[in-house]
Amino acid sequence: MSNDALKNAARILGQARLAIAFTGAGISVESGIPPFRGPGGIWSRYDPEKFEKNYFRQHPEEVWPLLRKIFFDELARAEPNPAHQALALLEDMGRLAAVITQNIDGLHQAAGSRTVYEYHGSTRRMQCMDCRMFFDSASISLETLPPPCPNCGGLLKPDFVFFSEAIPFDVHTEATRLAKKADVCLVVGTCGEVMPAGRIPRVAANAGATVIEINVQETGYTRGTTDIFLQGKAGTMLPMLVEEVVGRHA
Ligand code: APR
Repeated sequence: MSNDALKNAARILGQARLAIAFTGAGISVESGIPPFRGPGGIWSRYDPEKFEKNYFRQHPEEVWPLLRKIFFDELARAEPNPAHQALALLEDMGRLAAVITQNIDGLHQAAGSRTVYEYHGSTRRMQCMDCRMFFDSASISLETLPPPCPNCGGLLKPDFVFFSEAIPFDVHTEATRLAKKADVCLVVGTCGEVMPAGRIPRVAANAGATVIEINVQETGYTRGTTDIFLQGKAGTMLPMLVEEVVGRHA
């Protein structure tokens, strides 16, 4: 990645009227959370079919131990990394309007980001599939699986989007509205293969936004949608980018 590309990206980001960030699993890799695809990815170790809504409903005693292992035990100790912190700083500086994330790990909020749209929900909440009540995951013991609903004893489900489950419509609507208004869209650590979330950078680009992509490798965005490609780890590139922006506006 050339230093010119970084300086150019920082200049554009520093002058943005409305900048958004679209993030995926790659931004949390340096927090110790494996991505879904690629070497060591979650879907190379577990069958995604188990995380399909109807399968879960029919086999909760099989799926809940996987959910605990992948999304609670391993993920619970994860901390925000410098990439998450860089986006929170950009927001504090008034240079980032929102983070639109596909991640369910809550690390953007933990880093201090305040306007975060979670396209695929979050592990921080659970919902009962019977009485529909919501609970803070931290208040639910996972000693007994499946954990019974504290209200009705029914089946609790982590409040993230399972396959064949609908995307939260309000998030989809607001994320799309912002993408159409943005003049800069950061795209960080996502393969861009999963829809409808994956269309956000293209919606922004089609509406005239400059797309600045950070990834360790090229993606389906890089040659057609991305204007500036900063190849590298998010935990390195985002802090460098923000430092350059700060330097320009010190
Ligand atoms: N820094 C930046 N990018 C990285 C890093 C890193 N340290 N490590 C990996 N990446 C990139 C990979 O090159 C890849 O492009 O992050 C991306 C991870 O891709 P996926 O694992 O497919 O994650 P994501 O794009 O967020 O998946 C979208 O798929 O299964 C669903 O709901 C799940 O939200 C997820 C969605």
